[in-house]
Amino acid sequence: MAKVCITDGVPKAGLDELRAAGHEILTWDRAQPPTRTELLDHVRGADAVLTVLTDKVDEEFLDAAGPQLKVVANIAAGFNNIDLDSCRKRQVFVSNTPGVLFESTADTAFALLLMVTRRFGEAERFIRSGKPWQYRTTFMLGHAIQSMTIGLIGAGQIGTAMARRCRAFGMRIAYASEHPMKAPARDELEAVGLPLDELIATSDVISLHCPLTPETYHLLNAERLAAMKPDAYVINTARGACIDEQALVEALRSGHLAGAGLDVYEHEPEIASGLLEMENVVLLPHLGSATVETRATMTGLAAKNALAVLNGEPPLTPVH
Ligand code: GLV
Repeated sequence: MAKVCITDGVPKAGLDELRAAGHEILTWDRAQPPTRTELLDHVRGADAVLTVLTDKVDEEFLDAAGPQLKVVANIAAGFNNIDLDSCRKRQVFVSNTPGVLFESTADTAFALLLMVTRRFGEAERFIRSGKPWQYRTTFMLGHAIQSMTIGLIGAGQIGTAMARRCRAFGMRIAYASEHPMKAPARDELEAVGLPLDELIATSDVISLHCPLTPETYHLLNAERLAAMKPDAYVINTARGACIDEQALVEALRSGHLAGAGLDVYEHEPEIASGLLEMENVVLLPHLGSATVETRATMTGLAAKNALAVLNGEPPLTPVH
């Protein structure tokens, strides 16, 4: 029997297979997430850990877990919270949950796109403020996305799912990505691959769908934001640190950009100063994959990854 420590109060249905295999399962079911000290204490002696993206899995974490640890199964597509080198050195497998959350996350990105271009976030805040309003032909007009080009940074599963939504709403699709968008989507969507700087200079909306790596840290910096078309929009459902948030605030404040829709922040849950006051910004609390169905599937996949390693096999969806 192995000890499996889970650092959150995850949907329990996802844990059935682990339970049926007779492993000891310790979840974190308190209302507040663990403090760092509580986290290190919680994972002590674990053979497998199921982590969430706010857990920093570094040398200290691995030391706390102990030398018997075999697998870190992240319940997320991203894995920038995990020190892969340290895990590799200790022969600890790392896995993530690709392939199960791309539709939910693309839904979130597309919702942000509509909310910001059509001013729905601002409009909802307006109604709730109790201010008087009447139907007028010129009241609170947004912009039609049908004439716009979406520029996707990253064309993996989430970027491609976003492209499908945008195409269905009449947008033109362009992307910059290390790997070309996969066929048949690329052809069906008439998606045009461009060098990053050309994408940035020619898109009406830039939407981020790339992992956070040293190469994508502050990828949208002041220079690139200045190179965007005037009145363009930024959507981010990837990782906050892919954007220099202060530079974004400046680009919005100066009127160069028309708006931004953000689900992720560099210093979550802190929101960069200036953003909260802007009417042309829509802010969500990292809800990308937050549906009952998707979170249950993500938990189930992470549990399967842990179980595979405990059975002496590689994880189903390893991070290399
Ligand atoms: C969410 O942000 C994820 O990486 O799954």
